[in-house]
Amino acid sequence: MKALTWQGKRSVSVEEVPDPVIQEPTDAIIRITSTAICGSDLHLYEVLGPYMHKGDVLGHEPMGIVEEVGAGVTNLAKGDRVVVPFNIACGRCYMCSQGLQSQCETTQVRQKNSGAALFGYSELYGSVPGGQAEYLRVPFADYGPVKVRQELPDDRYLFLSDILPTAWQAVKYADVAAGGTLAVLGLGPVGQFASRVGTHLGLRVVGVDPVLERREMAARHGVEVLDYSKGVADELRELTEGRGADGVVDAVGMEAHGSPVAGFAHQALGLLPDKLAQKAMETAGVDRLAALHTALDGVRRGGTVSLSGVYGGPASPMPLLTMFDKQIQLRMGQCNVRRWTDELLPLVEDDADPLGVMDLVTHRAGLAEAPALYDKFQKKEDGCIKVVLQP
Ligand SMILES: NC(=O)c1ccc[n+]([C@@H]2O[C@H](COP(=O)([O-])OP(=O)(O)OC[C@H]3O[C@@H](n4cnc5c(N)ncnc54)[C@H](O)[C@@H]3O)[C@@H](O)[C@H]2O)c1
Ligand SMILES: [Zn+2]
Ligand SMILES: [Zn+2]
Repeated sequence: MKALTWQGKRSVSVEEVPDPVIQEPTDAIIRITSTAICGSDLHLYEVLGPYMHKGDVLGHEPMGIVEEVGAGVTNLAKGDRVVVPFNIACGRCYMCSQGLQSQCETTQVRQKNSGAALFGYSELYGSVPGGQAEYLRVPFADYGPVKVRQELPDDRYLFLSDILPTAWQAVKYADVAAGGTLAVLGLGPVGQFASRVGTHLGLRVVGVDPVLERREMAARHGVEVLDYSKGVADELRELTEGRGADGVVDAVGMEAHGSPVAGFAHQALGLLPDKLAQKAMETAGVDRLAALHTALDGVRRGGTVSLSGVYGGPASPMPLLTMFDKQIQLRMGQCNVRRWTDELLPLVEDDADPLGVMDLVTHRAGLAEAPALYDKFQKKEDGCIKVVLQP
């Protein structure tokens, strides 16, 4: 089959790779009909290269048609239409039973001290072949895939694989009471949905992003928008009687603009051989923390910062004095996708499209265009906000 593979920093290519086969009784093979590119893929493209291997198949936002199931999969049959969560979880362990599927104890990548395995997400998360491909092997298919109706378009369901539950969890974790103010930093796909979830739940939402068309998209969904600047925390206070936002979602992560020193560290890291670069990431921390610092500054005293943007590097400097003094609550993590999909399914199927899932995709193409679209998505050129590949 054809699949999109990682080849090096800012280099991906479509290659012929072996077709996936059933390896365990709980596996299924899915023929992919739509598969999106995520901001998390951009981390693999840029800074997480030291954890990737040439030829790794990328992608963790897939949906499609069941081609084959193992003997242990009784909930799915050939021909069913499914969307596949990006976390691989067993559904039976202690963590899964607590709704913490991103920490599944059956699939945890213990050698790397990581949580649940993820599709297409580097050796840190199990080096599992991803879904930007014609076919995907889905482990624990007796639990993970969400069966959906046949008649609605893919875009109704596709984002249940990752960014919609991620946004939902981010807003739930931000814990803003009805009528309160939620700030959303970053209006990429995750931030777009987090903002819309916020307004849907009756919050006042202020979205922040340096990119005009991303602010415009948010504005047409009832979000007040601010251009990113050094003074954005002050602007948030001005909008909230001097207090700051009740909750802040950071939907930016470690590719944030506005951290020149870390930007230089990223460049330097790119020049090191993999093992040394891994060590450097593990010991020095190369995060670009600009958005995180804005979140901690712009949240009100006693408010909550909810990180869905991905950070890496354990030695990241945090302003603990401010965090303690302001009594900030901090919540974060990979989304526990399966925890939220039952709540979200009726919303994505609703004719009124309350979360606007039909207004996000800006670019759609076959797999062959994927390398060009990674480049476009990373550079935010040509109005690119969300890319869907149709293998
Ligand atoms: N926690 C999870 O489970 C999960 C799931 C999906 C994505 N993510 C993460 O969420 C983040 C966003 O993903 P995305 O797909 O929306 O990606 P994206 O890269 O398109 O979005 C990031 C946005 O942040 C904006 N930005 C950059 N610097 C900023 C700053 N200093 N202040 C405000 N905005 C700034 C960019 O212009 C961009 O629009 C990524 O870190 C991604 O890895 C996490
Ligand atoms: Zn993702
Ligand atoms: Zn589990």
